Amino acid sequence: NKPYVFITRKLPEETLKNLYEVAEVSMWPKEEEPVPRERLLEEVKRADGILTMLSDKIDEELLTNAPNLKVVANFAVGFDNIDVDTATKKGIAICNTPDVLSDTTADLTFGLLMATARRIVESAQYIQEGKWKNWGPLLMAGTDIHHKTIGIIGMGRIGQAVAKRATGFEMEILYHNRSRKEAAEKELGATYCSFEELIEKSDYIVCLAPLTPETRGLFNEKAFKQMKTSAIFINASRGDVVDEQALYHALTNGEIQAAGLDVFQNEPIGADHPLVNLPNVVAIPHIGSASVETRMVMAELASRNITNVLLGKKPEAIVNEMVLT
Ligand code: GLV
Ligand code: GLV
Repeated sequence: NKPYVFITRKLPEETLKNLYEVAEVSMWPKEEEPVPRERLLEEVKRADGILTMLSDKIDEELLTNAPNLKVVANFAVGFDNIDVDTATKKGIAICNTPDVLSDTTADLTFGLLMATARRIVESAQYIQEGKWKNWGPLLMAGTDIHHKTIGIIGMGRIGQAVAKRATGFEMEILYHNRSRKEAAEKELGATYCSFEELIEKSDYIVCLAPLTPETRGLFNEKAFKQMKTSAIFINASRGDVVDEQALYHALTNGEIQAAGLDVFQNEPIGADHPLVNLPNVVAIPHIGSASVETRMVMAELASRNITNVLLGKKPEAIVNEMVLT
């Protein structure tokens, strides 16, 4: 009797080959629509493993009604959608997809920074709307990126990959992180500073910190007031690190200049979201790791993570390693 694995979103079959060899697999057949909560609760009554998306809530209710569950493999590096404490108590392995998406996410983050600073989206819309009648000395003039100061909050693998890109633009690099990253200081010339100092000094404030009790609501009214009025805020981690009302207020009252946002407090957001309609906001739909190449590799890694746990082997990426012993 093969173990049973449920996948909460349609993934390319070819990325799941190793999983098919060891398990009976079933998959929610839609790519853009999440599995209904009731169906997922039904599936975990018999599942030995589940491959989940960041939009699936893997909470205590679900985990306590999953008697056979041994592994949850999240198709993301972040795992704030999962109650890891409860899973650990129940001996359920929680796996994620770090490393394989770092460069891809850093590319998007830096692209978002550039698009925001140089008003690329606004400029493209300007042409689409037929407004381009003349060349002008200050037409769509934005802000320089090169030689400015970038402050990175969350100097993990993605943060360091963003810093590496910033060195090419000869930027001064500040960072804040729970722990010092001496290698990054040496190799990238990054300077550690307190959160307060970072937000006061930086021209670009880039958040790549995971969502934790410490980072929830970190960017609040007080934080935006401390930033330069010319500051550009970029968020590519999780929406809940920001108080969106405070951000809206800061953007409409000249407390900061602009924001580039890949993530939001309540995703997905609609065209009526207040932040989306501001000319100084570039909003994109949580696509940090979304290159075709990287999404394939993430699916393969998530699939191998499940296979390895089911075979009693150590998975390549596990969040709560203590459950293995
Ligand atoms: C995406 O946000 C991820 O955590 O991988
Ligand atoms: C977070 O885990 C990162 O890779 O930055």
